Amino acid sequence: MTSATTGSTRNLLTDSPELYEARFPDPGRLSARWAEDCLRRHGAGPRVLDIGCGTGRDAAHLHGIGRTVTGADISPAMLDHARTHHPGPAYVRADLHGFDLGRAAFDAISCLDSAMLYCHTNDQLDGFLSSCRHALAPGGLLVTEMRNGAYFLGRTDLLDSPTVNEFTWRGATYRSTTTLTVDRTAQLLRRSRVWIADDGAEPVEQRSAWRLLFPQELRHLLAAHGFEVLELHDGPGPRTEPPWQEGLLPGRTTDADRLHLVARATGPDPAS
Ligand SMILES: C[S@@+](CC[C@H](N)C(=O)[O-])C[C@H]1O[C@@H](n2cnc3c(N)ncnc32)[C@H](O)[C@@H]1O
Repeated sequence: MTSATTGSTRNLLTDSPELYEARFPDPGRLSARWAEDCLRRHGAGPRVLDIGCGTGRDAAHLHGIGRTVTGADISPAMLDHARTHHPGPAYVRADLHGFDLGRAAFDAISCLDSAMLYCHTNDQLDGFLSSCRHALAPGGLLVTEMRNGAYFLGRTDLLDSPTVNEFTWRGATYRSTTTLTVDRTAQLLRRSRVWIADDGAEPVEQRSAWRLLFPQELRHLLAAHGFEVLELHDGPGPRTEPPWQEGLLPGRTTDADRLHLVARATGPDPAS
């Protein structure tokens, strides 16, 4: 465990990519295979930007099946890990809130596991979508997968009590206690996660937050940035139960706790 103390707001998981992969394993690369299925069904060209690429495992899978991939993330630790453990793609540092990796440089952008929800404010969402629009060639695709804000309307099951999780990594046992709260004013889901390891290190509290985005709000934002929504549904997807598998088609509802989006950049870029 690191030397950070309780109350720290540093992100233990994104500062420790190997721990992140141990805690959220995806050995079958379900997430990347789901993204590839979306790209193929809608005829995407080969150049893909995976923004919020984390450890690089999804970017590397897409690279390995023949796409030309750039992975981008804000965390230098994630990017170092990606270059070493998941080589193949080009890896660059970029901020979701506003990036310029070249006009029309990509045929598709993937943004997986709620990374888009690190856009907390409307300005950050506008920055993300206008950067995506700028980066995509005409007809390019945006493929994202995230929590569904609408799930929390009338449901408190994820908020009622802390979730305790325990796993062993490199000989130490880690126990995390996660508490979720809804900040209705900021429209954020806030998470506090306290880590305790049995190796004698101080507990670490990690706080993070995701924007609570609602399906119709997302449609409105996408239309304003020159995107046509091709799919918006709550599953099946890589993090639904049961999970997506090859051959399953997208659903039609947006009621459950994950949202899956495929949108196409249509017409001229509204910002140009
Ligand atoms: C939940 S992880 C998802 C990683 C990967 N997409 C996956 O599915 O395994 C979120 C990632 O978003 C990155 N991130 C957070 N804020 C960001 C920002 N403003 N710009 C770019 N990346 C960001 C984090 O560093 C982290 O790697």
